[in-house]
Amino acid sequence: MAIIRKEKDNYVGLAKEILMNGGLVAFPTETVYGLGANALNGDACRKIYLAKGRPSDNPLIIHIGKIEQLYKLVKSVSDRDQLIIDAFWPGPLTLIFKKSDIVPDIVSGGLDTVAIRMPSNDVALKLLRETLIPMAAPSANLSGKPSPTSAKHVIDDLNDKIDMIIDGGEVEIGIESTILDLTEDIPKILRPGYITKFMLEEVLLSEVIYDEEINGTPKAPGMKYKHYAPNSELILLDGNDENLKEFLVSENPKDKALILTNEQKNILSDVIKEYKVYTYGDGSFDACKSLYAILRDIDTDSSINKIYSVIFEKEELGYSLMNRLEKAAGLKILKLD
Ligand code: TXA
Ligand code: MG
Repeated sequence: MAIIRKEKDNYVGLAKEILMNGGLVAFPTETVYGLGANALNGDACRKIYLAKGRPSDNPLIIHIGKIEQLYKLVKSVSDRDQLIIDAFWPGPLTLIFKKSDIVPDIVSGGLDTVAIRMPSNDVALKLLRETLIPMAAPSANLSGKPSPTSAKHVIDDLNDKIDMIIDGGEVEIGIESTILDLTEDIPKILRPGYITKFMLEEVLLSEVIYDEEINGTPKAPGMKYKHYAPNSELILLDGNDENLKEFLVSENPKDKALILTNEQKNILSDVIKEYKVYTYGDGSFDACKSLYAILRDIDTDSSINKIYSVIFEKEELGYSLMNRLEKAAGLKILKLD
């Protein structure tokens, strides 16, 4: 597989040739790395599912570089939809529309809708704008692993299974895009991300709702699959600094990993010396950026059997971060007070 750094400005030409021939190219976006194929070539898109080991009823997001591409891929775009597009594209927001006939069934997983996003990452945008190839791209990880936030993660998972990777360094955000369903009267968040409910409502001046899972079935098929869980048991710790201190003193630190913020690491410095400590950085934004890399890191350390992580306030970006953390922990939360 060719590994190309973004500084080499011929990456567009190389990627275009591979994509035109039905190959797979991994590329950075501002959220996580994507594994791209020409979205209008069903056979090429089928290779994505094979490479990832992904169930074929889990549809792909189509990435575009120019707004004109959108109008060909979907049935219609309302004034309300356009308002959202103007406010948030290019950026970490995926929108669901009724699909047009040119979208292959393999991309939409047999649904009559399609997910589209225009990423803001400069490498992705240059590739999409200069090739004008709409790219179907899920996160570039093996199914069941955390999404990749650096080229190394992609290489670890997919090295011999894809044709090319463009190394654009570490991503800016670190959790996957917000998915907003625009096919119903009230816009619905199917997956929370960097673009929050509040940010959307501020632009729309009307209500946005979260997907209420009907009988446990979420509307984004991907949200129903077993989510990434670390090899070791992950438990979220819910309590203040005093509670944390007491708990950590009472535990046997042997074979335990701890994930804390920088601030907590300082406050708890006396009681965490024997633990393997990982840090999220300073708040929700830093934590989104580092979460998947930390979990991948811990998985490579066979001496660890249990992971404790602190939690974040479920507000704004913290809400999206907690969505990923709770899934990775299988909802195991320890109330410490
Ligand atoms: O940030 C991101 O969105 C990254 C980067 C690469 O763009 N992509 C990503 O793709 O996270 P993936 O395939 O890992 O997740 C796509 C999610 C899945 O949960 C899938 O079920 C949902 O989008 N999805 C795709 N098309 C859909 C549709 N027509 N209706 C509802 N959900 C859809
Ligand atoms: Mg994914």
